[in-house]
Amino acid sequence: MSSSMHLRNLPFKGKIKFNEPLYKRTTFKIGGLAKFWAEPKDIDDLRSLLDFSKKKSLPLFFIGKGSNLLVKDEGYRGMVICLNSPYFRRIDLQDNAIFVCSGVALNNLINFTETKTLSGCEFLSGIPGTVGGALVTNTGVRKPKACNIGDLVEEVTIMDYNGRVKTLDKKQITFGYRSSNLSKYIILGARLKLKKGDRQNMLKNIKGFMEYRRKTQELSRPSAGCVFKNPPNRSAGKLIELCGLKGTRVGDACVSSKHANFIVNLRSAQAKDVLKLIDLVQMKVKEKFGINLEPEIKIVGE
Ligand code: EPU
Repeated sequence: MSSSMHLRNLPFKGKIKFNEPLYKRTTFKIGGLAKFWAEPKDIDDLRSLLDFSKKKSLPLFFIGKGSNLLVKDEGYRGMVICLNSPYFRRIDLQDNAIFVCSGVALNNLINFTETKTLSGCEFLSGIPGTVGGALVTNTGVRKPKACNIGDLVEEVTIMDYNGRVKTLDKKQITFGYRSSNLSKYIILGARLKLKKGDRQNMLKNIKGFMEYRRKTQELSRPSAGCVFKNPPNRSAGKLIELCGLKGTRVGDACVSSKHANFIVNLRSAQAKDVLKLIDLVQMKVKEKFGINLEPEIKIVGE
């Protein structure tokens, strides 16, 4: 019996799709088919999927809003799991803290905290991701001062790949620049410490973050956000610009003229075009400055 037949027979309440085009699921609008696409309804469903993929030796990865991600043109021969059911999108108020599930979109998190006038996560405004992805990559900004989601974390609830749920307190979690030790787990949610804020002030800050983003970043075309991490004390965007690479194209993949650390999809760019452009940028920056640019985006496929 094929894997898809077995999957149809699982005790599973969520949604399953076969051969799902991933270009529809990524902010880059690039990527081939995923053999399996699954949206578990709850924790039991999630465990069923882990069991199934283990039995079938299928690789899997978790996707949120599909930002920060380049999926190869050949697609993904395993299972892509998206925690977007209502169960994984809950937010509970706990005094001046909240428990937020991993499938919550960052913009919904901000709307919620704004209505409760709980301040602290306004800097996440306009980032097209979910809480789960933001935690794993310790998403943040560096202006007007460096703020990362890890700074707010008190506890993270995770599931390991054997289906066991555990709560890690902040002493067990290491957050670095665009990194954490959470990537070996499935993130279920986190308790974030916030403080009582002033609505007008919060709205002003949210507007400020959105405006800075609009002014400095190319948001009108599909992209995966910043492609490279900033090397210590340097700006990847500036280094790429100084190599004269703004506007450089491979097929329909183009180094943004507005922010050189963005590669935009002009129309029908393929992953192979983006990968060639990444190589070219890395080579030129290495040649001119002796610096190795490390991708911030996750590259998945076959
Ligand atoms: N710069 C240039 N040329 C460019 C781009 C930037 O000279 O083409 C210069 C800017 O003028 C500025 C400096 O580089 O002096 C830094 O630029 P920016 O403020 O845009 O910040 P960044 O370091 O490029 C970081 C994050 C962004 C985040 C912004 C806003 C990284 C890799 N990127 O960008 O995050 O939105 O700060 O605070 O850490 C992302 O992670 O996907 C992302 C977009």
